[in-house]
Amino acid sequence: MLAAGVLGISPFLLKRVYLAGAGAVVSKSIGPVPRDGNKNPVIVGTDCGLLNSMGLPNPGVDEFIKELEKLEGSNIPIIASIFGSNVEEFELVAKKITRLSLIKAIEINISCPHSEISQIGQDPNLTEMIVKRVRDIVNLPLFVKLTPNVTNVVEIGKSAEKAGADALTAINTVRAMAIDVETAYPILNNIYGGLSGPAIKPISIRIVYDLYKSVKIPIIGVGGIKSWEDVIEYFYAGASAVQIGWGFIQYDMDIFYKILKGLLEFLDRKKINNIQELTGKTHNILSKS
Ligand code: DHB
Repeated sequence: MLAAGVLGISPFLLKRVYLAGAGAVVSKSIGPVPRDGNKNPVIVGTDCGLLNSMGLPNPGVDEFIKELEKLEGSNIPIIASIFGSNVEEFELVAKKITRLSLIKAIEINISCPHSEISQIGQDPNLTEMIVKRVRDIVNLPLFVKLTPNVTNVVEIGKSAEKAGADALTAINTVRAMAIDVETAYPILNNIYGGLSGPAIKPISIRIVYDLYKSVKIPIIGVGGIKSWEDVIEYFYAGASAVQIGWGFIQYDMDIFYKILKGLLEFLDRKKINNIQELTGKTHNILSKS
C-alpha cells in the first residue's frame, strides 16, 4: 500500500499509484475542517531520511469526499487516514467518510509526532477510548497507526486491539529535529518534525516483532522500505502487509512494480505459494531453536 500522507487527496494521483502496482492507497490524513498546516520550511532532507512537519494540512472531510466522488465506480481500494483533536471530531470524520463506497478501510492517525493528536497515541486509555468510539461507527476494517515515540508501544497496540481495531499500522514517524549550522535556528519552522526513511526501518522492524508476540490482529509494517528484501524482513518480523511512504518519494512510482517483481522471484525461488507463509517466520524459527 501507499502509506498515508505521501500524496494529497488528488483522486487521479491516487489512481496512478494504484495502477503502478500498489494494492491499496492510503489518503493524506483528513480532519473535520480545512487546515492550512504549518508555515515553511516544513520538510528537510537528512542523510538518513526525511524530516517533515506539514502540520496535517488537508481540505477537510467534506471537500475530500467531493474530490473522491470523481473516482466512484473505479474500484480503487482507498483507505482513508483520519484524525481529529477530540473524540467527537474523530466520530464526525469517520461517519462522513464511510458513506463513500470507494473507501475500503479506515486508518486512525493518533500518532503524528508533533501535533496535539500525538497525545492520544501515547496514552493507552485515550487510545482505547478513541478506537472504541470510531469502532462503533465504522463497519469497515479499522487500522490504528501507532507512534514509536513511547516507552511501551506494545501496551498501546494492545489497547487498540482491545478496543476493536482490525489491524495495527507500525510505525508512524519518529519525533526528530535538525538545526542550521550558520544560524543555529531549527530548520523546521515547527522546530520538531517526524523522521521517515532508512533510519527508522530497524526501529519499525523491532516494533513489528514485539507487537507480533503480544497481539492477535494483523500488523502492517511501514518505515524505510525501498526494496523487496525490506518487505521480506517486515514479514519475517510479523507483518501481514506493508506500506511504502518515503521510498515512493525517493524512487517514484515504479518502486511498487520493482518490489512486486522482486517478491515474486523470491517466492518462486523458495517455492512459496502465499507470502502470508512468511509472516512471523523469525518467531517460528526462534521458538524451535
Ligand atoms: C505529519 C503527520 C504525520 O502523521 C507524520 O508522521 C508526520 C507529519 C504532518 O502532517 O505534519
